[in-house]
Amino acid sequence: MRGYKTVLKLLNEDLTAERAAVRTYREFAAVSFSAETREMFMEFARSEQGHANGLLKLIMDIENGENEVVFYCPVCGWEVNFGKRPEPGKEARCRMCGVIFVLAEVDGDYQLQKVV
Ligand SMILES: [Fe+2]
Repeated sequence: MRGYKTVLKLLNEDLTAERAAVRTYREFAAVSFSAETREMFMEFARSEQGHANGLLKLIMDIENGENEVVFYCPVCGWEVNFGKRPEPGKEARCRMCGVIFVLAEVDGDYQLQKVV
């Protein structure tokens, strides 16, 4: 998906780590000596699975173009929203401070550039 090269790389690395944590906690639960400890590790595994599910949904939303491209305004900190599936060159105005920005793509990643 255009503009998300680094974001998708990082999200997929995090997804791999979360899935490894699920497996590890389940293994700890399987060798636990007490029911209390086993349940604690299973709760950890469920928690990590929730993280993995959320990451996978975000990755799929990005890959399907269902994610809005939003930056924090470097002037005031408000959100600058370019919407879904924007083309590089699209302009958006910060709704708080009124500064206009243009969406650029550099080496596969979106960047926010101030219109001068
Ligand atoms: Fe702003």
